[in-house]
Amino acid sequence: MFIVLLIVCLCLFSPLEAQLQVGFYRKSCPKAELIVRDEVRKALTKNIGLAAGLVRIHFHDAFVRGADGSVLIDSTANNTAEKSSPPNNPSLRGFEVIDSAKKRLELVCKRKVSCADILTFAARDSVFFSMGLYYSVPSGRRDGRVSLASEALRILPPPTSNLNQLTQSFASKGLTQDEMITLSGAHSIGRSHCNAFTNRLYNFNSTVKQDPSLDPTYAAQLKRSCPNNGNSANLVVSLDPATPNKLDTNYYKLILAKRGLLTSDQTLVSTQATAAKVRANANNAKLFQQKFAAAMVKMGKIGVLTGKQGEIRSVCTKIN
Ligand code: HEM
Ligand SMILES: *[C@@H]1O[C@H](CO)[C@@H](O)[C@H](O)[C@H]1NC(C)=O
Ligand SMILES: *[C@@H]1O[C@H](CO)[C@@H](O)[C@H](O)[C@H]1NC(C)=O
Repeated sequence: MFIVLLIVCLCLFSPLEAQLQVGFYRKSCPKAELIVRDEVRKALTKNIGLAAGLVRIHFHDAFVRGADGSVLIDSTANNTAEKSSPPNNPSLRGFEVIDSAKKRLELVCKRKVSCADILTFAARDSVFFSMGLYYSVPSGRRDGRVSLASEALRILPPPTSNLNQLTQSFASKGLTQDEMITLSGAHSIGRSHCNAFTNRLYNFNSTVKQDPSLDPTYAAQLKRSCPNNGNSANLVVSLDPATPNKLDTNYYKLILAKRGLLTSDQTLVSTQATAAKVRANANNAKLFQQKFAAAMVKMGKIGVLTGKQGEIRSVCTKIN
């Protein structure tokens, strides 16, 4: 009996089933996390908007084939990669930060640090520089060898999504509705291109011109920023105009004031239950920060490759 239990216990804790762990590179590349943070810090000094870019890349990586760095791969003559898919191209930004961190890491620890982990560290550091809360993230991810534009298009939720669609999308990745609401708080930083929300401003549907869930004063401002003349494809506005570079709870206050920019933002207050969660985050910065960090860690564990799965790329834009 004892022997059987012992064997069961050993199996439960054996490293056969490789898992993510905090400080995975402590021995193999002790400076890994420091080097990534240094590259992120340098990049944000030049362009603070890249913090938002890096957090968003991590989300788009994790949802499509798991957090395996597949979003970082360039398209080739043979393959149209995730990066080229409409949800990612042209709006994702910050890839060059990952590529330059990888370059430095290859010089000191050749083929040791995965691109998937570099992206996870960079997103964590971006949150640190935008929110002031540092949290540790487990690492040991391996890089995927497959990246398909069609999957990104099928899986990533569009900005026109309603509450049910968002809840289902996140549930299909093992995330709760509360985590979906909390992670949407990332829209407290960064920007959106006009085309993600102009449907709310012009010809909303056959009976109303403008989305009634959008504050009319804000709608009028947005119309000036995004004129309906077919030339607004490259125009952008801040998701949170008051504090566009601070990952704070203002996002939730905006939604409560009918000033959520995207349909997928404003829809978070479309039921009493979710509106209560929005209010809870709006009114308690500490609570929001803790929940946001925990949800980011969880998002970074979606569908990861570990152990001998996948590979460690030598360049993040190409499979080996
Ligand atoms: C809930 C479903 C979500 C939808 C439908 C959605 C959609 C969008 C869209 C359309 C944009 C504008 C991109 C552009 O035009 O440049 C955007 C920006 C952004 N999203 Fe989301 N998003 C969602 C959830 C998330 C999550 C979970 C995160 C991260 C935790 C995130 C982080 C960001 C960030 C940081 C930006 C600003 C990007 C930049 O400034 O470059 N989003 N999102
Ligand atoms: C692209 O396709 C060609 C022809 O099918 C093949 O020889 C080549 O190995 C492929 N390249 C990649 C990167 O898959
Ligand atoms: C148009 O939108 C309004 C406000 O959301 C809604 O009440 C109405 O049912 C919609 N009409 C059509 C035809 O979809």
